[in-house]
Amino acid sequence: MTLLTWNHACRVRVRAMDDQHGILMDAMNELRLAVVHGGGREQVSKLLDQLIEFTRMHFASEEHLMEQSGFPGLADHRRLHHSILAQILEAAHRLQYGEGVEMRALLCSLRDWFIEHIEGADQEYGPWLNDRGID
Ligand SMILES: [Fe+2]
Ligand SMILES: [Fe+2]
Repeated sequence: MTLLTWNHACRVRVRAMDDQHGILMDAMNELRLAVVHGGGREQVSKLLDQLIEFTRMHFASEEHLMEQSGFPGLADHRRLHHSILAQILEAAHRLQYGEGVEMRALLCSLRDWFIEHIEGADQEYGPWLNDRGID
């Protein structure tokens, strides 16, 4: 799996959210490096927990901005966040209880969920927020 790199398609044009997306990508890259370099289960679990914490925080920030500005797609967007988080939590739970987790496959899934989400649904709130003076 290649490292995640910031590219133009990832920008949502709301600075705080762009910064948080950058931090999410760094957290995922750190997890990836730990897996590739044979980090133990404890280290990998710790990094995955950090990624989950940050993901929760980021989703809450986004939903708060959407709520504040009356973004009409909030309910659908929230459902997408729940579904991504549920999948990560399920994988973390399996890892924690020693069930077989193919870490490289999990990393690929994480990357796909986040990139698809940031380049897809997250692009929709940018113009709405910009029009209301949030950038
Ligand atoms: Fe996001
Ligand atoms: Fe989002």
